[in-house]
Amino acid sequence: MDKILLLGYMGAGKSTIARLLGQKLQISSIDLDSEIESRANLPISQIFSQKGEIYFRKLEHKVFVDLLEQPGKKIIALGGGTPCYSGNHLLMNQQGISIYLKASIDTLYERLQLTSGTRPLWDENRNTKEFLAKHLFDRSYYYHQAEFVISTDNKSIEQITHEIASLLA
Ligand code: S3P
Repeated sequence: MDKILLLGYMGAGKSTIARLLGQKLQISSIDLDSEIESRANLPISQIFSQKGEIYFRKLEHKVFVDLLEQPGKKIIALGGGTPCYSGNHLLMNQQGISIYLKASIDTLYERLQLTSGTRPLWDENRNTKEFLAKHLFDRSYYYHQAEFVISTDNKSIEQITHEIASLLA
């Protein structure tokens, strides 16, 4: 169990926390989305627009499996949808320690609006609180398969990182 997997909805802070946790624990950290982008040689938004979501989900699964099979300790920030497709939620618990970074609808909505335009699943047709609430509800089952759940509302990135480090100690 040498992989630490951070999961959660878009805007939950997975990538930032993975980086900080990596620095704190002296473990290398990696972002699944960045790895997908470098393998496809395309940004995520273009993978969605040019090849479609199904192509993305298949590639996401393949890259996730490859990362899990690499030797050595690693912190992996998953994409928001990773646990919800291709049985990835089962893999994450067989081969790693999974941590759900749980945030409220209001917190996520605020954060996503600040970075609006950067995510294919948070475009002008879907960036409503109603979409978010329903989408999060649909995904909650998968997110709650994580071994640990950390509530992140009203906590600083440093506090969350500290909490995860204590959990793993
Ligand atoms: C997705 C989240 C994104 C990225 C892709 C799909 C999702 O990652 O993997 O746009 O399905 O929630 P972030 O959670 O890092 O934004």
